[in-house]
Amino acid sequence: MVGAGSSPPSLRWTTLLYFLVLLCALITPGVSVKENDFKRCSQSGFCKRNRAYADNAIALGSEWQAPYKIPSEQASFKDGQFKATISKAIDEQGNTVRLPLTISFLKSGTARVTVDEEKRREKDIELRHNSKARKERYNEAEKWTIVGGLDIDTNAQVAHESKTGIKIKYGPELAFEADITYEPYSIEFKRDGVTQIKLNDRGLMNLEHWRPKVEKPVAEKKEGEEGQEEKKDETPEVNPAENESTWWEETFGGNTDSKPRGPESVALDITFVGYEHVYGIPEHAGPLSLKETRGGDGNYEQPYRLYNSDVFEYVLDSPMTLYGAIPFMQAQRKDSTVGVFWLNAAETWIDITKDKESKNPLALGVGAKTNTHTHWMSEAGLMDVFVFLGPTPRDVTKNYAELTGTTALPQEFSLGYHQCRWNYVSDDDVKEVDRKMDRYNIPYDVIWLDIEYTDDKKYFTWDGDMFKDPIAMGKHLDAHGRKLVVIIDPHIKNAGGYHVSDELKSKDLAVRNKDGNIFDGWCWPGSSHWIDAFNSAAIQWWSSLFNYDKFKGTMENTFIWNDMNEPSVFNGPEVTMPKDNLHYEDWEHRDVHNINGMTFHNATYEAMLSRKKGELRRPFVLTRSFFAGSQRLGAMWTGDNQASWEHLGAAIPMILAQGISGFPFAGADVGGFFGNPELELQSRWYQAGAFYPFFRGHAHIDARRREPFLLAEPHRSIITSALRLRYSLLPAWYTAFYHANRDGSPIIRPLYWTHPSEEGGFDIDDQFFVGSTGLLVKPVVQKDKTTVDIFIPDDEVYYDYFSYKKLPTAKGKQVTVEAPIETIPVLMRGGHIIPRRDTPRRSAQLMKFDDYTLVVAVGKKGQAEGELYVDDGDSFDYEKGQYIHRTFKLEGSTLTSTDAEGRDTKSIEEGEWLKQMHGVAVDKVIIVGAPSSWASKKEVVVESEGKTVSVPLDYHKADGSRAAFAIVQRVGARIGADWTITFA
Ligand code: GLC
Repeated sequence: MVGAGSSPPSLRWTTLLYFLVLLCALITPGVSVKENDFKRCSQSGFCKRNRAYADNAIALGSEWQAPYKIPSEQASFKDGQFKATISKAIDEQGNTVRLPLTISFLKSGTARVTVDEEKRREKDIELRHNSKARKERYNEAEKWTIVGGLDIDTNAQVAHESKTGIKIKYGPELAFEADITYEPYSIEFKRDGVTQIKLNDRGLMNLEHWRPKVEKPVAEKKEGEEGQEEKKDETPEVNPAENESTWWEETFGGNTDSKPRGPESVALDITFVGYEHVYGIPEHAGPLSLKETRGGDGNYEQPYRLYNSDVFEYVLDSPMTLYGAIPFMQAQRKDSTVGVFWLNAAETWIDITKDKESKNPLALGVGAKTNTHTHWMSEAGLMDVFVFLGPTPRDVTKNYAELTGTTALPQEFSLGYHQCRWNYVSDDDVKEVDRKMDRYNIPYDVIWLDIEYTDDKKYFTWDGDMFKDPIAMGKHLDAHGRKLVVIIDPHIKNAGGYHVSDELKSKDLAVRNKDGNIFDGWCWPGSSHWIDAFNSAAIQWWSSLFNYDKFKGTMENTFIWNDMNEPSVFNGPEVTMPKDNLHYEDWEHRDVHNINGMTFHNATYEAMLSRKKGELRRPFVLTRSFFAGSQRLGAMWTGDNQASWEHLGAAIPMILAQGISGFPFAGADVGGFFGNPELELQSRWYQAGAFYPFFRGHAHIDARRREPFLLAEPHRSIITSALRLRYSLLPAWYTAFYHANRDGSPIIRPLYWTHPSEEGGFDIDDQFFVGSTGLLVKPVVQKDKTTVDIFIPDDEVYYDYFSYKKLPTAKGKQVTVEAPIETIPVLMRGGHIIPRRDTPRRSAQLMKFDDYTLVVAVGKKGQAEGELYVDDGDSFDYEKGQYIHRTFKLEGSTLTSTDAEGRDTKSIEEGEWLKQMHGVAVDKVIIVGAPSSWASKKEVVVESEGKTVSVPLDYHKADGSRAAFAIVQRVGARIGADWTITFA
């Protein structure tokens, strides 16, 4: 048996390689492992150049002359689009580079600003090193990312035009305005006449145009001889003190990037006028409200970096890059939210600084407002920026979702608990874990297999000694509605006779190196090749590999985990692919790096849709690497964290950042990947994990076994309760996912998003609401902590979820809540109705036709409202109206259920699932904060489907701080039907 201690040979040496890299890093004193393995801005040529450019411009102040201009005679506005050519002089002879600019005003109210580079003379874009790379700026990020929202607003109109600029009104009721100044080129975006966002107002725009390399003379000058005049390159973009050392070649950590196209970065400054907080641009391990990045007390020294990387044991509170990238940022001030989306797939860095601006110098800071300055720098591609003017977080989220799509409606089981470790070593092991979970009454839905299930890391194969009968294992799981997830990574072992490797090569579907030959690198299997999922032929081929008859041992309850898709290449620069590698249609890896992970995830998603002819089921695919748009394909997790209290705390802001950046189906390894959590930490982690949208326990191969049933009491029970809480709230979670699917709204929501008027909540990232359920959660993330202080963002009443204790009103203040180890601090905001299922079962699947409980948290005005969305949780029949969507309302003394969309549900032709739901009822209603006028009531009247019945009411008077509550038993009204309960 391959136990935790005895790794198979191929694992041992690849891990060894990993540890060697680690060791090299460790011998540099004063620098942590990660900081040494990955570039700082000064080690990334274009970042260094652009930072230097900014320093120079800022130092010159009003003397700085930004070089980009729009000749007014070349500008035009027509049918919702402004077109012009930005030009920049590059030498004294009056030669210019020409940059076509298009500003599109979209129906959604979003503005899009795109700058390209006009093709120059062939010789100017001559590639070096005989490279086969494509001679064009990468312009396909849109193809992978944008799925809608591009319709042009033909109502946009010119408000004013002159030789120096143009003002265009657009958006809802023409309340938005773009003021474009021609010289130097800059744009000011206003809403209701007030400036919100400025592009290039600090003049840091820099588009490094393509140029020929001018070779320096090599001939040595002999004494007395006239030397050949040294030819100069075209005007450098950088501070003259800078040299060209990073233009034509760059070396880092022993790897040299050949840079066949030379320098081609794009950079722009974007100012959020009057905004003190900015959020987003995941993935980073730091606070939700982003920090300044140019030094100073408590600030970072480095810009936030987006360059998808396998950063194992990542450091916390850092702008370092991680596994995924979403270049979408939101800015928040009281009652106003705006945002930008920088659509670029290349390595990107973002500097953030803030300044306080006082209108009146005598006001001594009173009435001062803060501006947040950002400086975006990408190595290649187009300059393509979407500008969102809000005014609410919901508006910005919705506009972004229209462009990049929303979370796919998930497989319902995937909201349950996932049990993973590296590795469950055999089919017997899997079955044994499954039995033990049952024996201890611990619910779970999915057990996972990490890389060791394969025959020697050859994906789509099984280790036949350890997994003798995968189908029998699958059936064993299926008996209780459980699923299996197996890992499939993008690196394909370079081994003869392995059908996947053979086909990849013979069909020529792999990523190529700079010379055009198949790229070979090192990952878990040793020497490997990488599928190039940018190629539609590769996607087709990949899909075929998942067919049940091809990937033997898999069945309907098998789903997929995609890992290492940054891509992780153990012996590559910064643990990834060389930038001069070539993808489909000769795009350089440099151009597409941050999209790479999404294309692989996409290929697997597509594959899952076509495993069997006629089978139409929702895929479930977990990914580690992602980009804007990945939300359409499945879930993500935050990678290789550690079993430490700090990592437990860091996960919440990371998951919140995912949520507000359009990819809310997110979680962190519960328990921590590396290391062994002490019992208290593990219990607290499950309590927090029960509120992650994606809830999976996972552990490293060297970590001790830690399945919940192994733990000593009281921890086993504490964890079981946390899991049961998750399962009972699945209807609320599924409804939150439904909203994410509709309009992109976050599943767990930070306070700025739910309460954009309450400034006190703008930098809070350790508590959150669950969807629109009114559940306010603050997991305990510190050792030995038995109370937490929860910030109350409004003057509603709040009740403790478990005890019904009513909290003192505390708008804008913290209240202390008891949180001994067995308790998760969860509050219910008054005014909400939460749907639950209270019968404990082994899996989500087994709860499918259980009755519901509704918990009504009565608001301060005696009202409450809530919602339930439910469908078969598996097929696409919801697209044909096969779902139940209810609104529940408490008004005065009646509680009603009506169709949330006002549909005439009787006219819907019912499929199998809807028919089965006829047997599902509302069983119980709990009214927390029930009015005292109901105290004497013993019964209430339920009316539904033409029948009226009286059912018992059980009233409990307020007791100390505990609110009064009432329970209606055996309601019996069908969940899909209209009903009314009358309390008076
Ligand atoms: C990576 C993943 C981790 C997985 C391991 C082996 O480190 O992040 O979750 O267990 O690879 O596949």
